[in-house]
Amino acid sequence: NIDLVEKVKAEIRDVVDFPKEGIVFKDITPIMLDPQLSNEIVEHLATQYKDSGITKIAGIESRGFLFGYPLAMRLGIPFILIRKKGKLPYKKVSYSYDLEYGSATIEMHEDAVDANDKVLVHDDLLATGGSAEAAAHLIKKCGASVEAFNFLVSLDFLEGDQKLKQFTDNIQAIVN
Ligand code: PRP
Ligand code: HPA
Repeated sequence: NIDLVEKVKAEIRDVVDFPKEGIVFKDITPIMLDPQLSNEIVEHLATQYKDSGITKIAGIESRGFLFGYPLAMRLGIPFILIRKKGKLPYKKVSYSYDLEYGSATIEMHEDAVDANDKVLVHDDLLATGGSAEAAAHLIKKCGASVEAFNFLVSLDFLEGDQKLKQFTDNIQAIVN
């Protein structure tokens, strides 16, 4: 769907030197100002995953919630929140991973997935792949399998997909 790819590209704003010097930040908020395009994105993703056998969608905080939850509703399957440490109220599982400086921990409710689940991990953007890899480890820790990864945007030059291939080859983005 070349038309959709071009429309999404046109509504991603490059912000130079955010959050620090030398980074060109992909700002997706213009997409959210366009409800028609937002709807087209959800419909496109629904068509892509409707017969894929996925049983749940896991969205990565916070921008992974924006399209992950509408897509899950559209497909008629449950949505799972993967959040930064200390945000979820119920019994949870955690996974910690290294960042450039220091480390990060993400969490998920322990009853969010089970051994029968085939999960689609969704986020707005794939950069180094650290967040999506950690999310996948968390899902596997609970006995479920990671069936696919999906992003609105992939910064291909960072080769984040190299961290995700250990789980599945099904790694897709609308804009590469
Ligand atoms: C951004 C982005 C992804 C992640 C990508 O989220 O939305 O979740 O970083 O980077 P990675 O591939 O190198 O892990 P951020 O941590 O800024 O959180 P936010 O969505 O809550 O703003
Ligand atoms: N845009 C949005 N989120 C991000 C980016 C970016 O360029 N890099 C890492 N997370």
